[in-house]
Amino acid sequence: MADYTIRKYNNGDYDAVRDLFGQGMSGYVPGTTMYMLKLPQVYGTILASFIIVQLFFHSYFLSLLSVGMLLATVHCVMLFACRALIKKSLNEDLLNIVETYIWKPNSCFWVAESDGRIVGMVGAQPAPNSDINMTLRRLSVSKDQQRRGIAKALCMTVFNFAQQGGYKRVILDTSTFQINAHKLYQRLGFRITKIIPSRSRLGRFAKMSVVFYSYDL
Ligand SMILES: CC(C)(COP(=O)(O)OP(=O)(O)OC[C@H]1O[C@@H](n2cnc3c(N)ncnc32)[C@H](O)[C@@H]1OP(=O)(O)O)[C@@H](O)C(=O)NCCC(=O)NCCS
Repeated sequence: MADYTIRKYNNGDYDAVRDLFGQGMSGYVPGTTMYMLKLPQVYGTILASFIIVQLFFHSYFLSLLSVGMLLATVHCVMLFACRALIKKSLNEDLLNIVETYIWKPNSCFWVAESDGRIVGMVGAQPAPNSDINMTLRRLSVSKDQQRRGIAKALCMTVFNFAQQGGYKRVILDTSTFQINAHKLYQRLGFRITKIIPSRSRLGRFAKMSVVFYSYDL
């Protein structure tokens, strides 16, 4: 039986919600770094640096050092990109959650609470220029509480809220790197409506795309 409850957000949840969002996004850094290392242009560069340093200096130590430095660089780039994304999001709707979600009509924000701790979150907002689409946003579950059905329950909360408001669809977007999120949305019955390649320089380099999902209520 679930030992968590889902309730509407209140101001006392502010810091916990922002922390949880940051943790959720940061959780993808190791996997994304591994993905980057498998890109031909990245592992090609690392291999080339090993060979070049070996040819010039005849030193395995220096060759391995150059590889280590390149690996560290890839990891730092991913960390930096992730932190920039978290900072941007925290300065958008998550800056004033009450104003953005609680006070606005047909919008809401919920948290999942377990043992007095915020372990999950999700927001719902009407899609711009649409009377039938509700957007699901900022879904996240703390790492130690994942695979317990909390995200599913949070999504159901959004579905019910949207249905009661007369909406016909719940829509959302996520990046190709958010592997667990894709598994969740596909399991829940969302279908992919479009995939748009990222326009950022790093996104294009990593062949990242934004995936749009829709769920018919
Ligand atoms: C994606 C995320 C919200 C899933 O939360 P969760 O509470 O673990 O998900 P649930 O337990 O409700 O999973 C429901 C179903 O989704 C699928 N699923 C979810 N996470 C999965 C994973 N890591 N691997 C495989 N399937 C997964 C499974 O089918 C699961 O059902 P099952 O456990 O009975 O097999 C969570 O991993 C997370 O917070 N990630 C970081 C933030 C993020 O990516 N947010 C989405 C932004 S768009």
